[in-house]
Amino acid sequence: MNYSFNENVEKLVAYTPGFQPDDPAAIKINTNENPYPPSPKVFEALAGLTGDALRKYPPIFWDDFRKVAGEVHDVSPDHIVCGNGADELLAMLIRCCCNRRRPMAYPVPTYTLYPTLGDIQDCPVIEVPWGPGCQLPKELATTHAKLTFLCNPNAPTGTIIPVDAVGELAGRLDGVLAVDEAYVDFAEDNCLRLLKEHDNLIILRTMSKGYSLAGMRFGYAIGSKPIVDALLKVKDSYNVNVAAQVAAKAALADRDYFQANVQKIKQQRNRVAVALQSLGFDLAESHTNFLLAKITKPTAKDVYDQLIERNIFVRYFSQKELNDKLRISIGSVEQNDALLAALNDILK
Ligand SMILES: Cc1ncc(COP(=O)(O)O)c(C=O)c1O
Repeated sequence: MNYSFNENVEKLVAYTPGFQPDDPAAIKINTNENPYPPSPKVFEALAGLTGDALRKYPPIFWDDFRKVAGEVHDVSPDHIVCGNGADELLAMLIRCCCNRRRPMAYPVPTYTLYPTLGDIQDCPVIEVPWGPGCQLPKELATTHAKLTFLCNPNAPTGTIIPVDAVGELAGRLDGVLAVDEAYVDFAEDNCLRLLKEHDNLIILRTMSKGYSLAGMRFGYAIGSKPIVDALLKVKDSYNVNVAAQVAAKAALADRDYFQANVQKIKQQRNRVAVALQSLGFDLAESHTNFLLAKITKPTAKDVYDQLIERNIFVRYFSQKELNDKLRISIGSVEQNDALLAALNDILK
């Protein structure tokens, strides 16, 4: 081989996404997808796409989506940036704020994509352990990182930091605070109101969870004008395809469908949590569409393997703080029934 890659790429360990089984009968509750289809309005919008819309490049500034999102969230559309999934926006933020001399920080454990995105852009990462019970660690405010990620509610713990505490953190940081609200659709509160007070704040949302559009790839961020303008400078010209733009707009606009969908998942979350506890799992209260369930006898890895034998896929993380737990996405009623029956059988 007479070529090489950048040193950071040579050293890079690629992110491992949740397993994608081929079998359509598999119960896939390992990547926090929504078990229900998106709003019927999404299918109407996609059916309405013309040959002309497909022939041309998509809108550069996602105008129709931004208009609806501005109305839904009561913000000016020019404070919104869209991405090919929230993941693209995370990478764009690092591109704007970080380099070899400008680190990023976040509490751990959290979304395991953050360090990979940092490594890709050769950015040092500062990991600060959560306080007891996943409280905000005081040290997070004093890292002097140029970009701090706060996943809130957090994955994979499902825990949430109160909005006031997030506001206090934003006020103390001397860099940008990106609050990743990928799971906020399933929580009782969100950080949008902090945007009026903190110009170093940007909030990320995804259409992958509460809106059932993980396959479409659409995320958006709402923040102060300087941060939004920086993101616009580094974005690819046509970063979101036209089908994703019309689908995301239709899904976001259909508030009734969204609320009913989220409600069904929250109800199932409560039911599965109670059932898991009665089977001997230890759980923190979840503000997301998944549960992090601790089990030591048998080991979490053993339960995970036995579930796979029954064609049920949950998420297992081998790192130290998580290797005694399973992260279980909330599925449909039938999927949850199958999970609980399998666990009953494994643990009996
Ligand atoms: C914490 C967190 N942030 C962001 C994302 C990415 O969302 P998207 O599907 O919009 O890229 C995920 C996806 O699982 C996530 O768990």
